[in-house]
Amino acid sequence: MNILIIGSGGREHALAWKMAKSHQCDQLFIAPGNPGTASIGTNLPIATTDFEGLQKAVLEHQIGMIVVGPEDPLVKGIFDFFANNPLTQHINVIGPSAQAAQLEGSKAFSKHFMQRHQIPTASYAEFTADNYEEGVQYLRQHSLPIVLKADGLAAGKGVIIAQTTQEALESFDEMILQKQFGEASAKVVVEQFLTGIEVSVFALTDGKNYQIIGHAKDYKRIGEGDQGLNTGGMGCVTPVPFMDDAFMQKVEKTIIQPTIEGIAKEGLVYKGFVFFGLMNQNGTPYVIEYNCRLGDPETEVILPRLQTDLVSLLAAADNGTLEDVNIEYHTASFATVMTVSGGYPGEYKKGYAITGIQEAQALPQTLVFQAGTGFQNDEIVTQGGRVITVTAAGNDLQSAVNTAQKGCDLIQFTDKYFRKDIGYEFA
Ligand code: AMP
Ligand code: GLY
Repeated sequence: MNILIIGSGGREHALAWKMAKSHQCDQLFIAPGNPGTASIGTNLPIATTDFEGLQKAVLEHQIGMIVVGPEDPLVKGIFDFFANNPLTQHINVIGPSAQAAQLEGSKAFSKHFMQRHQIPTASYAEFTADNYEEGVQYLRQHSLPIVLKADGLAAGKGVIIAQTTQEALESFDEMILQKQFGEASAKVVVEQFLTGIEVSVFALTDGKNYQIIGHAKDYKRIGEGDQGLNTGGMGCVTPVPFMDDAFMQKVEKTIIQPTIEGIAKEGLVYKGFVFFGLMNQNGTPYVIEYNCRLGDPETEVILPRLQTDLVSLLAAADNGTLEDVNIEYHTASFATVMTVSGGYPGEYKKGYAITGIQEAQALPQTLVFQAGTGFQNDEIVTQGGRVITVTAAGNDLQSAVNTAQKGCDLIQFTDKYFRKDIGYEFA
């Protein structure tokens, strides 16, 4: 079968690496991909939301399976676009329908959903310009800190954790009245602040059945000791020592099962990955958010740990045999450490030459996944904030992290930065 992966980050490089290992994968295409994916399959210069362009390529290359990496095309309806066209409806598109993708695309939709199905999450209220004054009163009497979320997709910038009422009122005004994120912040969800440790759990569903395919802890802050600005993710570890059987059973029983049952009951068309962003509050899990895709950089550790053939797994999600699949994991621990451009997640420069990729790749039990890289002539250069992530396996998390860091030392570009304390709690 020929397969198309949509996206261009480290997640998609890891997907390409994993899928290319499958006997069921003939030709592999990535749109638009990056220099890392170009070493595994064929990159197609098509934007992730150019559905017409993707359709043309899918027909030309006789694609049988499409795996959608990022949320944007999913929320914009890529699943429905292919499913509703007689020429492409036979293709196994891995991703939810646009309606089901609202679980990520609209914070209000996902909060309503969790409320309907009694799934543990922070208490909340939602406001628009129509009940703005009510919102102001709500914020004034609410305990601190308090969380404000733009309802729609805001490129990861739509969440404000306000430490003071003044800050909350200012953000509320900016989002709703000044339309800081356009239509995405016309509606705002105001939420109770949850304390605890954030973790990510991943399932694959066909809309009725599911399999858990991994979990990870993501280190989101730019600075060591979890200080400074939020990023897309600076590193991950798996398996996470405190996410033991007892904890994962609670996650399954109180969160995953009711979520999948809710999807089925409501008739949401969902064949794809569900990413549960959770807060572990003294052993009790709460949902912070749903994402309708894999995480980045979580994918760069969960796929190396997953022993099961991913193409077979995705085929099982398509043909109704997901229940029968056996999920197997490698026994090693895995860590990934992300190198980023100096200045990220703020302003940063692009176009610096990168060296040392092969040297890092040559370390034992190591995988190098490219994220924000591009070609300049024949040279690989920096082209994004998160540049290259190094994943390593080890007998324990600390040895995996140590090897991943060695890989990050070998990779060189101007103003490179990476966190040297990924997995610090488990050292
Ligand atoms: P979200 O886009 O909903 O994942 O929010 C982005 C980040 O904000 C999360 O990864 C958390 O670190 C933080 N966050 C969101 N909601 C809450 C909450 N209710 N309590 C504490 N932190 C939160
Ligand atoms: N690493 C978090 C995300 O992919 O949203």
